[in-house]
Amino acid sequence: MMKASPIRCLVTAGPTREYIDPVRFISNPSSGKMGYALAQAAIDRGWTVDLIIGPVALPCPTAASLYEIETAEQLNQTLHDLFPPCDVLIMAAAVSDFKPAKKLPCKEKKLEARRTLELVPTPDSLLEMSLQKGSRILVGFAAETENLEEHGLRKLQEKDLDWIAVNKVGADIGFQSDDNEILLIGSDGTRLLIGPGAKTKVARDLLDALNLETICNTLSK
Ligand code: CTP
Repeated sequence: MMKASPIRCLVTAGPTREYIDPVRFISNPSSGKMGYALAQAAIDRGWTVDLIIGPVALPCPTAASLYEIETAEQLNQTLHDLFPPCDVLIMAAAVSDFKPAKKLPCKEKKLEARRTLELVPTPDSLLEMSLQKGSRILVGFAAETENLEEHGLRKLQEKDLDWIAVNKVGADIGFQSDDNEILLIGSDGTRLLIGPGAKTKVARDLLDALNLETICNTLSK
């Protein structure tokens, strides 16, 4: 699947929305900024970029092919379509792990509203892609509030990733910020602290660390 050039890069960014009824949903504060910065950094290197985005309020990198999604299911279907031709998948999207068991067709009225919500799991898209990985490079993200390295390592192994970018999130750090700091862990044991700095710079440094140009050239020989 690897080829000399251009590298085909699939990036996911932003949150998903899991609807309770037509006007209410479960989501998270992901701004999409980190995923966008990665897509832009990849474009700047001459890579071909497919960008799958959840609902975000940012102007999108114009040179990317854009696929807009709302739910984790839609993200999953789009990924299945776009994954086969890609060389590298960067999963920066903050995907909801659960969705309401039932989406009501009409707005639920206050007096009849359920007080408890039954949730069912959404597909773990990154895990599914890892089962058909081949020679592709897989990069996961993990937003953690504690035990960053331990959680990152577990996800790296469970999802058979080449790299995981772990970042701390909390009340005033992470999701909406223009800056980021990540611990990048490689399946070969590499550990690299990137940042703190602007997400645009963190994205460039992260792509440098993947060393993809060298890997692709070697494989194409
Ligand atoms: N991910 C995914 N599908 C999901 C949940 C997560 O593809 N349903 C991806 C994310 O895009 C990210 C990686 O898996 O690249 C890790 O996501 P995270 O939410 O941190 O991990 P989980 O596997 O959901 O683990 P936990 O909830 O225990 O933190």
